[in-house]
Amino acid sequence: MIKALDNINLTIKEGEIFGLLGANGAGKTTLVKILSTLLLPTDGKAYVHGYDVVEEADNVRRVINLVSGGETPGYGILTVRENLWFFSQIYGIPNAKDEIDRLLRDMELEEYADIRMHKLSTGYKQRLNLARGFINDPQILFLDEPTLGLDVLNAKHIRNYVRDWVKNSNKSVLLTTHYMAEADEICDRVAIIFKGKIIACDTPKRLKESIADKTSAVIEIKNNGIKIDRIDGMEGLALENHDGITRVKVLLDEQSSISRLVSYLTNNGYNISSIKMNEPTLEDVYIKYVGMSLDDKQS
Ligand SMILES: Nc1ncnc2c1ncn2[C@@H]1O[C@H](COP(=O)(O)OP(=O)(O)O)[C@@H](O)[C@H]1O
Ligand SMILES: [Mg+2]
Repeated sequence: MIKALDNINLTIKEGEIFGLLGANGAGKTTLVKILSTLLLPTDGKAYVHGYDVVEEADNVRRVINLVSGGETPGYGILTVRENLWFFSQIYGIPNAKDEIDRLLRDMELEEYADIRMHKLSTGYKQRLNLARGFINDPQILFLDEPTLGLDVLNAKHIRNYVRDWVKNSNKSVLLTTHYMAEADEICDRVAIIFKGKIIACDTPKRLKESIADKTSAVIEIKNNGIKIDRIDGMEGLALENHDGITRVKVLLDEQSSISRLVSYLTNNGYNISSIKMNEPTLEDVYIKYVGMSLDDKQS
């Protein structure tokens, strides 16, 4: 039997955006479906807002909502406003009109309110989808690749809105994504999922620090057309000369060494034109951990 998820053990806190970061097929949607009661787990226990997702599924459904990327939000022949009204009535929300007006405003959908949903662009369809996800004021919002296929501005709008909502309401978001930069930007903590297993879980900052020995820097020096092939007193540098610039690449062992390097170069008469620190990204973290787990399998 193939296990889509294997020995997952996670706790998501209030006021937190928790990111589940993984490639296609890693098991992200499977986990979201189990937690949102759309799929029964074959084994194991999961609780949402204190409710057992199998034994108390009705209670779970009352406190959650789910928005997935790349899905059609509701009914194409209904207008934007009618779609939100329809879903508000499924939840039996009293005085939904005010709430719908607020969501239309927040999602910058007011001018499209009376347009049939099928006429919206992909980005605005997803704004409607997100508005639908907030209609029952969920305690926990599941966002399964919510910015899939969106352009930069639409994706940014959605990320900003979600981040403000979590911070102002002390609610929780479980966000899945394969966009590393997205997880880095808005997630308080991130778990990397690979072949159904969690292989790392921490804040983006600490995950990056855990591979920080790989920090490198590139220093550009103006060389007035005279190539520099070595710098006396400095070992382990890679030097490249282009168009009057010498590019010095160096691996940094500790954060402080960049300042030592810069003062050394300055004191020895080199004219520094730029310094670029290549700090590790979540992508580097992902590659490091996923690579490690592949090695584990082979041994
Ligand atoms: N309905 C299904 N039946 C059988 N296997 C499935 C089904 N849905 C997903 N899978 C498999 O489970 C694994 C995890 O899939 P999924 O949770 O959709 O990954 P992700 O959302 O991270 O891309 C994959 O190997 C996928 O092929
Ligand atoms: Mg998925």
